Amino acid sequence: MTRQWKSLVAMAAIAWAAMGAAAPAEAESLTLASPDGRITVTVSDDGGQATYAVAFEGKQVIAPSKLGMLFAEHHGFERGLAIAASARASRDTTWEQPWGERRLVRDQHNELAVTFRTATDGPARELTVRFRAFDSGIGFRYELAEQDALRGEIAIVEELTQFAVGERTSMWYTPSDEFNRYEYLTRTAPAGKVDDAHTPATFRSESGIHFSIHEAALVDYSAMSLGALRPGTFEARLRNWQGGPKVKTKAPFTSPWRTIQIAPDAVGLINSDIILNLNEPNKLGDVSWVEPGKYVGIWWAMHIRDRTWGREGIHGATTEETKRYIDFAARHGFAGVLVEGWNIGWDGDWFNNGDLFRFTEPMPDFDLEELGRYARSKGVRLIGHHETSANITNYEKQMEAAFDLYEKVGVRQVKTGYVADAGDAVRIDDKGIRRYEWHDSQFMVRHHLKVVQEAAKRRISINAHEPVKDTGLRRTYPNWMTREGARGMEFNAWGSPPNPPNHEAMLAFTRMLAGPMDFTPGIFDLRPNERPPLRPDMPRGDPANRPQTTLAKQLALYVVLYSPLQMAADLPENYEARMDAFQFIKDVEADWEQSIALAGEIGEYVAFARQGRKSKEWFLGAVTDENPRDLSLPLSFLAKGKKYRAQIYRDGPDADWDTNPYAIVIEEKLVTGGESFAVRLAPGGGVAVRFVPVK
Ligand code: NOJ
Repeated sequence: MTRQWKSLVAMAAIAWAAMGAAAPAEAESLTLASPDGRITVTVSDDGGQATYAVAFEGKQVIAPSKLGMLFAEHHGFERGLAIAASARASRDTTWEQPWGERRLVRDQHNELAVTFRTATDGPARELTVRFRAFDSGIGFRYELAEQDALRGEIAIVEELTQFAVGERTSMWYTPSDEFNRYEYLTRTAPAGKVDDAHTPATFRSESGIHFSIHEAALVDYSAMSLGALRPGTFEARLRNWQGGPKVKTKAPFTSPWRTIQIAPDAVGLINSDIILNLNEPNKLGDVSWVEPGKYVGIWWAMHIRDRTWGREGIHGATTEETKRYIDFAARHGFAGVLVEGWNIGWDGDWFNNGDLFRFTEPMPDFDLEELGRYARSKGVRLIGHHETSANITNYEKQMEAAFDLYEKVGVRQVKTGYVADAGDAVRIDDKGIRRYEWHDSQFMVRHHLKVVQEAAKRRISINAHEPVKDTGLRRTYPNWMTREGARGMEFNAWGSPPNPPNHEAMLAFTRMLAGPMDFTPGIFDLRPNERPPLRPDMPRGDPANRPQTTLAKQLALYVVLYSPLQMAADLPENYEARMDAFQFIKDVEADWEQSIALAGEIGEYVAFARQGRKSKEWFLGAVTDENPRDLSLPLSFLAKGKKYRAQIYRDGPDADWDTNPYAIVIEEKLVTGGESFAVRLAPGGGVAVRFVPVK
């Protein structure tokens, strides 16, 4: 403050005192730095507003942005705020994941908790904002202690958190207010032109700093999306209950963490663990029953209309067909067989008939108990499926019995599904009135956790489709293994348009920053809709719907798109026709000791190296968009000077996703740790490599 300004403030204070009001105190500002000092957060109460700002190496990432919240029946936190207290802490620990992208995770951060106090427009009240600064970004959350001014039920009507990212900052995002939940192609635009976005949303500032806004530990709160307040400044938008507030809570409570991952380059965003580090440790104790692995299933056959979920066409989930998949899984070393369409409720218009699903009643042609036994006898497990069509009340009534049944027949993983338009999840309230809630509302956030906890009691893990987004809760509940929450492979069977060639290189820098995705890779018949229909009443989809990738890229996806449950999604016969390429899917692991994003640019290309947790073998996967690309990747992850047999699955010289997708070269080469690996990726192509140490 200049001296002149100070004397103005002093004069104003005298005037305020004469009016009988408390003088606004001199603004205070506190700074928190990351352990390496490159990221700084400045917290201030300037002008009676709580604000924060973030910089990377002295360059602005988030300009001063407001903090606060408003309640329905209580006085909120918006005006007259002053910093009343602050506390600092530092931490450097390493914890172990039961499964994941890496076994050991380092949590190194500095912390600053700032308590803001206000008595403006009402009684005195306090709100603490806790900031943590890591070398790869920051997180902050609100903490509301029990206090006289905030007794009873609290309804949050607005969270005032803002993110002033700048109008010209580039942004990659999916829209948050459209019908298809998270299932949109990634859009890109200057931030000043974006109205609304789901998180994680990815940004690149004009000075080249990459950052991603998301949240961690979304528990008993509604999900945050970004809504434009004015061009280049977003506010945290929370979903509301139908006809109700955004969040129903009670003091004391803590909000989810608002996170900003920051890196000088795009891959730096991937090589960050702050989302997991901001979640609570494992609450389930022994989770040795949570088993990462690969699976096959009666699934793609329905999407390409070879089979049907219900009985009106060719029913997929029959005892005989399931045995065929179990035999295939056993023959090729897959741990699980997913079966969809096994229970009562699928016949006819299941999309709109969520009330009809029965989760303990198999169809007459599906012998659940016998199949559970048959699978176990072959060293395989059935993977369960609960499609709810987002009728939550119908599902919750049956959920415990449904998990009991699956536990009895040896099921260890259940895929859940919530097919319905955004905002159409059914809740029958205590008056019996049918309500419609958002997929990312507090109601659904509560529901998903209920499912995960009930499943855990029966040693069952969850893979949720049409889920709420991932915020790292797998750390606290390691049985919440994977989920969908973006456009997966199924869009290549019927999505109009299908996923374009840059889709997976987009996902790696956007959706995947949230956590694992059950993308379901590994399609070998790349023109499925060109096959003749099996029956005239089951016409195929538009032939334009097809995976827009080469065969080698399908293999690369096992390394690029992380999921602890990784599907080999195509039909057994399509794999048996290409055993040479299928070998990579058999060899690759789904659980990792370490993972490194080696190189990439958002939506253009990306390359990963991952070390298998069991075999300790390294794998490499890289994918490109519609452009061919020459990559030279450092084999710095391999032991320096050590020899490896690199089993390479690369695009053939004239491969092209559109005109020649099957051209693949499968070869073995001797490589040395520390040297570079040069490879050419075709348009829409990729490469997959397994490194076997030479004895
Ligand atoms: C949508 C899911 O994403 C898909 O995997 C599933 O097959 C269908 N719903 C039916 O449950």
